[in-house]
Amino acid sequence: MQGPLVDPYGRKVSSLRISLTQRCNLKCIYCHAEGERGFGDEITVDEVARLVRIASKYGVDRVKLTGGEPLLRKDLEDILMALPPLKDVSLTTNGTLLAGRAQRLKESGLNRVNISLDSLDGERFDSITRRKGKLESVLEGIEAAIDARLTPVKLNMVYLKGINEDEVERMMGFIRGRPLILQVIELMDFNGAFERHADVSTLERSLKAMADRCVYREMHRRAKYFIQGAEVEVVRPIDNSEFCMNCNRLRVTSDFKLKPCLLRNDNLVDVRGLSDEELENALKRAVSIREPFFKAA
Ligand code: 5AD
Repeated sequence: MQGPLVDPYGRKVSSLRISLTQRCNLKCIYCHAEGERGFGDEITVDEVARLVRIASKYGVDRVKLTGGEPLLRKDLEDILMALPPLKDVSLTTNGTLLAGRAQRLKESGLNRVNISLDSLDGERFDSITRRKGKLESVLEGIEAAIDARLTPVKLNMVYLKGINEDEVERMMGFIRGRPLILQVIELMDFNGAFERHADVSTLERSLKAMADRCVYREMHRRAKYFIQGAEVEVVRPIDNSEFCMNCNRLRVTSDFKLKPCLLRNDNLVDVRGLSDEELENALKRAVSIREPFFKAA
């Protein structure tokens, strides 16, 4: 094994977050589309496999597959089966297409899933996703993920002012006593499309007050709250230099460019058509230009 990939800020890259497609069957009002803009051909099974194999020589041992909606890739199982052995392989999905496929994904090497679930109310769910009647299929997807032991299943809830702020308790009721973790995520308002932002600090204070137990995780200085059998985390990416300083992931766009930061598009490294040796060098270069977006004051 080679030495780890460390950027100029001392951050070790141990994880790849690979977007497999920009296509999606939902149209969520807040979607940051993983900061992607390109519309080149989708990354191939072989491209994913080669990149992960090379990165794993440098100690990268976690891979997250994302989109768009990664389940729109018919060859997702092939991608999973082409990966080298890793500590953790996870998938971020909207869950609508998961139910019939969860077992096969598990058998193909997937360890766990994150599923977007912003509301348990059908009408609200429709207005957030700008599609009709998809909540039911997401709930079925969650059950299938549990049955297939793609656990713990993390439920991503983007915290939206005046839209789902009042649903945290209901969500806690939903996950309580089950292999489900609720992640309430602070909105990243890229385009300034939201007039008002929900206040995650207030939420965090009330969770703390309710919690039977809190665990502070060094990573991202993120706390986990255990509230009567419900495990809740609050993810705060905004204006958070801790969040950036603890970032250990390199993103890969769906058209096979290395993307050092979610929030930037000016430092992408195109790696299409490279030999293994060139790809290895490009990987090191992408790490060497990593820059925290939010820096400590
Ligand atoms: N702000 C915060 N989180 C977002 N996600 C997508 N767009 C945003 C945004 N603007 C998260 C959601 C989704 C995952 C794919 O990315 O949690 O589940």
